[in-house]
Amino acid sequence: MSSERTGPENPEWKLDRASFVVVANRLPVDRVEAPDGTADWRPSPGGLVTAFDPIMHKRRGAWVGWHGAADEELEPFEDDELALIPVPLSSAEVANYYEGFSNATLWPLYHDAIATPQFHREWWDTYVTVNKRFADRTAEIAGEGAVVWVQDYHLQLVPRLLRRQRPDLRIGFFLHIPFPPRELFVQLPWRQQILEGLLGADLVGFQLPGGAQNFVQLVRQRLSLETSRDRIRMPDGREVLARAYPIAIDARSFNQLAATDEAAERAEQIRHDLGDPRVLFLGVDRLDYTKGILERIQAFGELVAEGRIDPDDAVLLQLAIPSRQRVEQYRQLRDEIDRLVGRVNGESPRIGRPPIVYLHVSYPRVEMAAFYRAADIMVVTPLRDGMNLVAKEYVACRQQDDGALVLSEFTGAARELRQAYSINPHDIDGLKDRLVEAMNDSPQNKARRMRVMRRQVVENDIYKWANMFLDDLERLTQKPEASQVAG
Ligand code: ADP
Ligand code: F6P
Repeated sequence: MSSERTGPENPEWKLDRASFVVVANRLPVDRVEAPDGTADWRPSPGGLVTAFDPIMHKRRGAWVGWHGAADEELEPFEDDELALIPVPLSSAEVANYYEGFSNATLWPLYHDAIATPQFHREWWDTYVTVNKRFADRTAEIAGEGAVVWVQDYHLQLVPRLLRRQRPDLRIGFFLHIPFPPRELFVQLPWRQQILEGLLGADLVGFQLPGGAQNFVQLVRQRLSLETSRDRIRMPDGREVLARAYPIAIDARSFNQLAATDEAAERAEQIRHDLGDPRVLFLGVDRLDYTKGILERIQAFGELVAEGRIDPDDAVLLQLAIPSRQRVEQYRQLRDEIDRLVGRVNGESPRIGRPPIVYLHVSYPRVEMAAFYRAADIMVVTPLRDGMNLVAKEYVACRQQDDGALVLSEFTGAARELRQAYSINPHDIDGLKDRLVEAMNDSPQNKARRMRVMRRQVVENDIYKWANMFLDDLERLTQKPEASQVAG
C-alpha cells in the first residue's frame, strides 16, 4: 500500500460513477490513531485485502467499505490510485453488526461451530441496517450496467437489496469463508433471509464445490426453487449460478519479492536473530480460534519435551496478528496462547533463545516474503479455513523448491496443494509425527513436492481467478441482443 495517500485532502480528486465496484466490509486501508494522537492509515489485515489489492490495481475500480474506525464519516478519497468509498459505522453498529452478528454468529457457525455461535435479535437487526447502508452507497456510486462484486459473510443481504434499487447492475457475490453443512446453516433463525439475500446476485461464488452444493440444496429445500446442478431458477425469470472459485494469490509478485536482495538479507538476519537454528518452523496467522494455533504449539511443545526436537537445533517462530480483540472468544484465545507459550518455554532447559518465539507484529509484504524465505517448515494447522492464503504465499516464495509445507486437511488450500504434508490438527500425535517427518525428509522428496505445488500456485493466480469469476458473470448477464449478435 502506498504511503503517499492523497486522501480526502486531494482537491483535484472527484468521484466518478464507477463501472467496476468491489463492496467489502473493510477498505484496503484502516484508519488508526498514531502514537501522537493524529489519524493515520495502515493496510487492513487478512486474506481478502491480500487477494483484492492486486485485482483492483489492475482493473481500477471503486472499493466500497468501512474504514475501520467507529463514529467517523469520511468523504470518498483516492488511495494508491484506487477510489475508496468509506461507509460509516457507529460504535453500536461495530458491536452488533461486526463483532456480534458477523463474528460471533456467522463466523463460528460457518466454521463448523468450533466456537458456539450466539443468536441475538438485536445483532440481526443491526446487520440488516448496515447491509442496507452498504447497498445504498453502492447504488449511488455504480454507473449504469456496472459490475458490482460483493464480498464475504458480512454483506450477504447486499445483493438482493442492491438489485431492488438497481436492476441494471451485474451483481456477483463471493464468500471467502466456508459455506457450512446444511445441518448447521439451518440453525440460523434468519436462514431464509440470508439465502434470499445471496440470490440477489447473478453469480454466487464459493471456495469449494461442497459449499456451492450445500447452498443449492438449501435453496431447493427451504425456498422451493427449481434447481439444476449449479443453476437456480428465480421466480422473476432470472437464473442464478452457484459455483466454486478457489481463491488465489499474486504468486509472481510474492515470488519476485522473495527473490530481492532485501528479502534475502532479511531472511538471513531473521535466522541469525533466532540463533541460526538448523530448522526454522514458522506459523503465520491472524489470532483466530479457527487457525489451530493452540494445537500447533501443543504439538511442538510435546516434541521438545519428549526430546524429539532439540531446542538447540530448532525453533518455532509464530507470528500472530491480534484480531477482533473485543470479541470474548478472541480474548480468551489470546490468553490461552500466552499461557501455553509461557509453559512450553518455561519448561525448556535452554538458556537464551526459547523454543517458541511468539510475535504480534504486522509486517510489510517484503518482510513477510523474507519470513517465508527463511522458514524450513511452514506449519498451517487450521481446524477449518475457507482457503488459507498463507500456505500459498509460502509456496510462492520457495524459489529453490526447498522447504516443506505442513497443511491441515481442513483448509480449502489442501484440495489444491496435495503434495503438502497433510495433517489433521485434532490428532496431536499425528501432527507431531508429520512435523518430524517434514523435518527429516530428504531434500529430493521435499523438492519433488514443492515443485508440483509451486506450479499449481503460479499457474492459478489471483488474476486468473478474477477473470474466471468475472467472465462467468459477464456471460450470465449478457443482454439477449448482445448474445444474438455475438452468436
Ligand atoms: P485470513 O483471511 O483468515 O486472515 P489468510 O491466510 O487467507 O487468512 O490470509 C492472511 C493474510 O494476512 C495473508 O496475506 C498474510 O500474509 C497476512 N498476514 C498474516 N500475518 C501477518 C503479519 N504478521 N503481518 C503482515 N501480514 C500478515
Ligand atoms: O475472509 C476472512 C476475513 O473475514 C476477511 O473478510 C478478512 O480478510 C479477514 O478475515 C480479516 O478479518 P477482520 O476484517 O475481521 O479483521
